[in-house]
Amino acid sequence: MSLKCPYGPVTRAPWGLLPQFHRDPLGLLEDVGNRYPGFASLPFGPWTLYLATEDTAVEDVLRPHKDHFRKGPGMEAQNPLIGRGLLLSEGDLWREQRKAIAPVFQPDPMKAYRIAIAERIGAAVSRFFTPGQLDAGEFGRYLALIVTMDVFFGVASVAESVGRVDKATAQVMEHFHRRARSAYRPPYHWPKVFNRAFHQASGVLTDFIEPLFDEPSTPLLKVLANSPVERRAEEALTFLIAGHETTGNALAWTLRLLAEYPDIADRVGDEALHQGDPFQSGAYTQAVCLEALRLFPPVWLISRTAIQEVEVQGYALPAGSDFLVSPWVTHRRPGYYSEPTTFRPERWIRSREVVRSRTDYRFLAFGGGPRRCPGEEFALTEMMLAISFICREWNLRPLTTSFPSPHPGMTLAPHDDLGLVVTRR
Ligand code: HEM
Repeated sequence: MSLKCPYGPVTRAPWGLLPQFHRDPLGLLEDVGNRYPGFASLPFGPWTLYLATEDTAVEDVLRPHKDHFRKGPGMEAQNPLIGRGLLLSEGDLWREQRKAIAPVFQPDPMKAYRIAIAERIGAAVSRFFTPGQLDAGEFGRYLALIVTMDVFFGVASVAESVGRVDKATAQVMEHFHRRARSAYRPPYHWPKVFNRAFHQASGVLTDFIEPLFDEPSTPLLKVLANSPVERRAEEALTFLIAGHETTGNALAWTLRLLAEYPDIADRVGDEALHQGDPFQSGAYTQAVCLEALRLFPPVWLISRTAIQEVEVQGYALPAGSDFLVSPWVTHRRPGYYSEPTTFRPERWIRSREVVRSRTDYRFLAFGGGPRRCPGEEFALTEMMLAISFICREWNLRPLTTSFPSPHPGMTLAPHDDLGLVVTRR
């Protein structure tokens, strides 16, 4: 027999825990995850959401997507910029799109991408790295953007477009975040101040993408060129939006962690030197990236809405119920990772953790189930090649002694600059 509703904090406040969620979402989710481990109710005033933190609960929410769930709060399919792209589409359209882009991320094209990624890393490092100070956040975003522009959109000479696209992407992400947090969501076509900046930034991104379909030059553009004309910009921009800030922030956190732990950075540098091949990276370097993604998962919150009654952990919950999965919380569960707040890459080497991370629901940096990130290998490759390249030639130290706190926006960004001091190795 199914149970009715999981336990969770009780409050009489009219908006429940919503104000707390807006103030400090990571703290609130972590607290609820600790006090009600596994699966919990989250009272948000008129709404009750459900938080899945244990692997089996997460699996119940992420695995049976198809006829049971759609993307949840904050992921609006009516989004005019990317609503019909792979991130937000559902049903048959999603299935078709997912199948169509699969060859773009297969091992063969990945081999060619490695060369392009390595070239872009070389260009970005020579631009940012001179003895002195740099902001790892700015470097990470820049590198992720020029790699995406080159590999997925065939734009290799980026000097003047990179600034425009970076700014416009940041603006639309900020808009998505404000919309996700707000109960007031005017339709996109209303001429509101709220919408104006968004449409301007969207225009910049669409003007950047559309001409690229005149002569599609990359595996991704060639696939998307087969889509209906009115939809293909949304499909292409989805890859820019989904891959840019995520990878940029992942790299930035990884570099800041390496600056905090010089011995680990040295080991990455030594591994790169012994490796010899600049297009490959070793097991320790991979472990460092996984550990950074565990501690600072750029996608810190994943949401779903039930489209029919679903059973999660034995509870029967009605259609319309909203579910949250937080990689931040699950990655910090002591039962899954010993000393969960410590940066310890070795944990990914000594056991079968690396293999496990790809198959179970404890490591959620790239999500799980059928909607798991298709860019996973790509992002990891970029991160690994970047830190190999950097640690081979540079020493990193933190600019400030206190470790920067995270800012949970659309992705997990640093609150302030991630300042580094770099010297030649
Ligand atoms: C470190 C970098 C990245 C992280 C942490 C990340 C994380 C994620 C996560 C957690 C999801 C699942 C969201 C959900 O279930 O609702 C996702 C989906 C997605 N990601 Fe990534 N991602 C990264 C890089 C990339 C890259 C480089 C691309 C492509 C260029 C990409 C494209 C996508 C797309 C298209 C989806 C939607 C897939 C679907 O719904 O079928 N991501 N990503």
